[in-house]
Amino acid sequence: MRYFSQFMVALAVVVFVGHAAPDAQAQVNPTERSVTEESMFEALTGDSNAVSGRVSIPDRGAGNLIKPDNKSWAVLQGSTLQTLSIVAVVGMIALLTLFYLVRGRIRVDAGFSGRKILRFGTIDRFAHWTLAGTFIVLAITGLNLIIGRTVILPIIGEGAFGTLTAFGKIAHNYLAWPFMLALVLVFVLWVLENIPNKLDLEWIKQGGGLLKKGVHPPAKKFNAGQKVIFWSVILGGAGLSFTGFMLLFPAVAGTPADWQMYQTIHALVAAGLSAIIIAHIYIGSVGMEGAFDAMGSGEVDENWAKEHHALWVEEEKAKPAKESALSTPAE
Ligand code: HEM
Repeated sequence: MRYFSQFMVALAVVVFVGHAAPDAQAQVNPTERSVTEESMFEALTGDSNAVSGRVSIPDRGAGNLIKPDNKSWAVLQGSTLQTLSIVAVVGMIALLTLFYLVRGRIRVDAGFSGRKILRFGTIDRFAHWTLAGTFIVLAITGLNLIIGRTVILPIIGEGAFGTLTAFGKIAHNYLAWPFMLALVLVFVLWVLENIPNKLDLEWIKQGGGLLKKGVHPPAKKFNAGQKVIFWSVILGGAGLSFTGFMLLFPAVAGTPADWQMYQTIHALVAAGLSAIIIAHIYIGSVGMEGAFDAMGSGEVDENWAKEHHALWVEEEKAKPAKESALSTPAE
């Protein structure tokens, strides 16, 4: 049985090579115990389309066994993109740890007042958490495709890694759709308050008050730092959506080289945006006292709001009681 299957493999190679390049038969002995990929390529150099057979179905691409060009793309995947992804994620976590050790948690200097102000309503929070939840799963399952074989497989073994990656891929393909919907919703809800203005320069000059205790540059609903997050999410998310769509539908993407380009851009944008989002998650949770409430209950303490968004509080106070966020009774 073993010899029969070896014979069949050898026969398949004879037929394939015979179709691909007649000259090759002179240099490669397909009945050798092992015909290495290298010896095939050596025999077929000079023509990047050489390792192709003939197919009778309309999809000519199905006749390509492997193209030497694809090897450089595979190397890019296996080394450069892997390294960049690890550096982006681990580098950001290291930076934030350092920041935490030096600056500590950013406190509400005046202490909590006990009075609440509505910062984000139900629709805002629904949009945020749909975007956040889908992005986090997409980022983890996507990262697994880039670094999983090197980092996770040796830890959990082939069986578990195979199952995990197969489910991860399904989750990645399907969660991309609610992610895109939430991205559009977040854009529509918050774009007007995220248009850059002169105030942002002052906020940046003062380091957003993040570096020194007691410094609180004035800001409206979103400060310059949050605008950077917003636009990174919108533009990065749009880039990921477009390139992701091309990856899902290769027939639309164009040539295999185009598809590979979209894949490379997709991986690079994902690594960059993941690093930015890790910083966002830090500042929205452990990094800043009182911040999480904005997306948790939707209501923040008035002193927190005055320290981080003084002009927004003034705007809300100037509104008639019925429309003002301040009219929300404290719990
Ligand atoms: C567990 C994870 C997360 C936490 C704890 C968190 C927390 C928060 C909080 C507290 C705010 C409101 C800040 C304010 O009062 O203005 C916020 C805003 C926002 N979040 Fe998240 N977030 C998380 C994940 C994400 C993810 C994954 C994304 C996008 C992919 C995202 C995108 C945004 C955007 C665009 C805003 C508005 C701009 C800003 O405030 O920076 N968030 N988030």
